[in-house]
Amino acid sequence: MDKHMHVAHFTVLPLRAGLKLAQLLMLFLVVLFFLGCSKKKEDEKFIIGFSQCVASDHWRRTMLDEMKMELSLHPATKLLYTDADGNSNRQIKQVHEMLKQNIDLLIISPNEAHPLTAVVEEAYNKGIPVIVIDRKTSSSRYTAYVGANNYEIGKMAADYMANAVLKRKGGVAEVMGLPGSSPAIERAKGFADGLKKYPDIKINFQVYGNWVKDEAQNQLQKNAAQLKEVDAIFAHNDVMAMASKAVLRKFSLAKKVIGVDALPGKDAGLELVSNNTLTASLLYPTGGKEAINTAFAILNNQSFAKENILQTVVIDSTNVELMKMQWSKISSQQKDIERRQELLDNQLEIYDNQRLVLNIIVITLVLAVVLGGIAFHSLLQNRKINKSLALKNSEIQSQRNQLIEMSAKAEAAAEMKLSFFTNISHEFRTPLTLILSPLEDLLKNEKVKQLTGNNLNLIHKNVFRLLKLVNQLIDYRKIEHQKFKLRATEGNITAFLHDLIENFRHIAQKRHIDLRLLSENSSLMLWFDANILDKVIFNLLSNALKFTADHGRIQVKLRTAGNIAEILVEDNGVGIEDADLKNIFDQFYEADAGYSRGSGLGLSLSKELMQLHKGTINVASKKWHGTTFTVTLPLGSSHLSAIEKDVQTEKRIRLYDQLKIYTTDLEPQQPLAQEEVFKPLKEQSILIIEDNTDLQHYLREKFEFNYEVFMAANCLNGMNEAYEKIPDLIISDVVLQDGHGTELANKLKNDFRTSHIPIILLTARGSIEQQIDGIQSMADLYLTKPFNFDYLTANVENLLRNRGILKERYSSDISHTTTKKTVASQLDKKFINDFSGIVEHNLSNEDFSVEDLCKAIGISRIQLYRKVKALLNCSISDYILNRRLKKAKYYLGNEDYTIAEVSYMVGISSATYFSTIFKAKYGITPSEFKKNRM
Ligand code: FRU
Repeated sequence: MDKHMHVAHFTVLPLRAGLKLAQLLMLFLVVLFFLGCSKKKEDEKFIIGFSQCVASDHWRRTMLDEMKMELSLHPATKLLYTDADGNSNRQIKQVHEMLKQNIDLLIISPNEAHPLTAVVEEAYNKGIPVIVIDRKTSSSRYTAYVGANNYEIGKMAADYMANAVLKRKGGVAEVMGLPGSSPAIERAKGFADGLKKYPDIKINFQVYGNWVKDEAQNQLQKNAAQLKEVDAIFAHNDVMAMASKAVLRKFSLAKKVIGVDALPGKDAGLELVSNNTLTASLLYPTGGKEAINTAFAILNNQSFAKENILQTVVIDSTNVELMKMQWSKISSQQKDIERRQELLDNQLEIYDNQRLVLNIIVITLVLAVVLGGIAFHSLLQNRKINKSLALKNSEIQSQRNQLIEMSAKAEAAAEMKLSFFTNISHEFRTPLTLILSPLEDLLKNEKVKQLTGNNLNLIHKNVFRLLKLVNQLIDYRKIEHQKFKLRATEGNITAFLHDLIENFRHIAQKRHIDLRLLSENSSLMLWFDANILDKVIFNLLSNALKFTADHGRIQVKLRTAGNIAEILVEDNGVGIEDADLKNIFDQFYEADAGYSRGSGLGLSLSKELMQLHKGTINVASKKWHGTTFTVTLPLGSSHLSAIEKDVQTEKRIRLYDQLKIYTTDLEPQQPLAQEEVFKPLKEQSILIIEDNTDLQHYLREKFEFNYEVFMAANCLNGMNEAYEKIPDLIISDVVLQDGHGTELANKLKNDFRTSHIPIILLTARGSIEQQIDGIQSMADLYLTKPFNFDYLTANVENLLRNRGILKERYSSDISHTTTKKTVASQLDKKFINDFSGIVEHNLSNEDFSVEDLCKAIGISRIQLYRKVKALLNCSISDYILNRRLKKAKYYLGNEDYTIAEVSYMVGISSATYFSTIFKAKYGITPSEFKKNRM
């Protein structure tokens, strides 16, 4: 067991450590997994507000596209976009809204400079970076500006107009943008300043086209007269230049127009220059991309320029194709970039997935390696442990072999010793027998007996004892060598026990030991080996007598419990110490000197013999209170083999039983009261209730020679003894410690169970009143102390004789009524009447049992037995049988029934049996009796 525990201990340790390690590793891997899964830290998540003054035209759409394109590189950043649709108030409102939404940076293209200045400053003052794009406010309180230099554009337009278009002479019309918007103001100023160098060039008139087509057309049409006078038109953007061209066409005026923006795309500046609609257009980049780059430089705290002036150039027939080519290349590159970006995104997604799978694989691999390591480690440990266990096992094995060898040697030595003892025992037996026989002859010789006195007896007793011991030793060896064979026969165990007990009767009487057989069954048939059981019970009885003091009690009880029969040998002797009890059946065990139960072989032999008999033997004992040995035997014969059943002997024994146990065969099925089987040592019993010890002893000594004497020292014990023993007579003192003899007499006489018992009261003082009191108490006699013992004995005998007369009267013929005066009490008369009535009523009932009778009368079995014995002087079963036979005799003599019918009517089912017992009682068979009647 311990070794196993070690194994478990050692195996668990590495496993536990391994598990802990595995847990830590798991944790580490999970962290690794999540780290691996998380992408590289992106730009911070920013919100950029972009307030556009107007969004409907191509230039503004291009600006937004550029921004979005650039923002696509910063996916975490959110763009908050508003379109004021050319309305400054609306733009102010929209900016306020944006500010509320906690934008990180504001990009604004103010519709008009002055109205939007305040809100831009407000944002700027709040610490929100502001990028002004294309158009400006009236203040310089902004973070950065992105856009071309509009004043320069005006000047470049003036130069181009003067040199390339007008050849330094002529008049121009100017179509300006929205008044108040910074590009309109700056371009107009630059244009005017630029023309100052050319004194022959004049600006004939100016209109505001507000950056849009319709307004430009309207204004030019209004000035149609002047229009005819000018040589060329400078429009602030290509949209208004196109509108100017349309108005010129309308009036069939072939005048040159230059614009600003030079955007690629359908109907845009480059196209218009290329198809000669416009003479030239000044490139005005939207700055969308630059604005976003500047924004991130600001947000990421990188260096940036406050003024980011975009380059501009004049596009005309000389460079327009090149520009277009460049644009188309750029746009195809742009598309390519976009496609690549898309591909890149897809690849990134695939990469992310692959990275996840890879992470999982790596984790699994690491786990497998670690767990494999742990398993390998455990395996090594287990191997180590197994090796050490195997070593220990082989050690134990060799120790075991040594032990087996040693025990075999010891057994052989013991066997040799025992064989020696057995052989010696056999040798002893012959000389002992040879001593015993002549000794018994000597003992028979009266002369020798006189000469030797008790010595010869002592020699005889001890020789006999030696012989018995030697025999036991030989028996024991026989059992050990299985030479002792069970030879069981079916026999009456009650009779067997009875005979066995009789062997001890004499010695028991001599020592005043109350030795009884108490049996539930008068003839319990049992399969047993008489030879074996004799040895066992004889041994138990010998021991009981040995350890029971004089005046003690030994009871042999026979009863059945389930499918076994129990024989109890109970004594109230010295008892056995607890420590000795458990060893009492061991071979050669002897308890402390003085309380030993024999030679030490007897009980051990008994145990072996009972085992051979498929039975058991057990002991219960209490020191100074007595000992009970219980022997059990199985009922039936199914436990015995064919060889173990000795059929020959069985036949013999059964015959013996039938001859011997005649009366019990009368009611073989009916269990009888225990005492019915037991024959009291004395015919009659007396209960003496007396508290004076001297008088107690005196009375006991005087009476016990002729009577069984029960003693009680007070009223209560007296009453109990009276009910329990139902004695034939009671002698009681009147004055007792706990009560009065007269009360006791009164109670007993008025009790159905004890009413028949004659009571003699003894008193010290005998006043007439007391005597009257005594007699009124229903006592049968009242004697005053000192009394003459002979007188008392005479009275006792007289009372018992009277009871005998009464018995005869009742038992002679129950149907006969008498007028003769008797001493029977009214209660006893009632009892006799009830009893005989019930028996009479049930005569034909074969199954009518003593139990039924007890139930009908309402009295215990023992009390009924005593009562019937006292009043009728016979056993209950004898009484019932007598009643049956008397009734049968009446039927046979007076009625005309057949023998079988009569037998049946009196509850005897077997006609043959009926004839036998009828003849036994009346000396004549029923048929002869019937014939004689005729
Ligand atoms: C577009 C536009 C452009 C011009 C710019 C001036 O709305 O009119 O054509 O160059 O605005 O702000």
